[in-house]
Amino acid sequence: MIKENIEKSINEQINAELYSAYLYLSMAADFADKGYEGMEQWMRAQAREEKEHTMRFFDYLQERGGRIKLEAIEKPKEEWESPLEAFEEALEHEKYVTERINEMADMAEKEKDRATLNMLQWFIDEQVEEEDSTENIVNKLKMVKDSPSGLMMLDSKLGERPTESVEKEE
Ligand code: FEO
Repeated sequence: MIKENIEKSINEQINAELYSAYLYLSMAADFADKGYEGMEQWMRAQAREEKEHTMRFFDYLQERGGRIKLEAIEKPKEEWESPLEAFEEALEHEKYVTERINEMADMAEKEKDRATLNMLQWFIDEQVEEEDSTENIVNKLKMVKDSPSGLMMLDSKLGERPTESVEKEE
């Protein structure tokens, strides 16, 4: 049986992952509104990944005999000043998620819960990738600044992200 503090922390993470999906969907909607179709696409794909993350935690907690408790999801912001501001916030959010995952791993280590630690390893690797890809976009947006042609090119490049989720290897 899973320890109570780990169960609580996984439930909180389910909420945090759903909030991430909400945040990226809100960014997708704002990009759509402003005609950045590629960035909209990128954020839609990102939101879909967050829903997959949610279900990984959900399924894991069930497998371990824990009780899933869903809480209200915070309302995300609706509008961003610029693509750079949105992607900078996305990066900050990913750093926050990384911190949460690391704290969970510390807790699992302290409780000698090796199964949870093993499950979290996938997320530790995933966070490295998530931070890296978002940071790359932030850097490109900083290079492009307010150049309309640069923004259009970057928008079209980001729209190349696959729309369907690809099953990742365990
Ligand atoms: Fe589920 Fe983007 O972390």
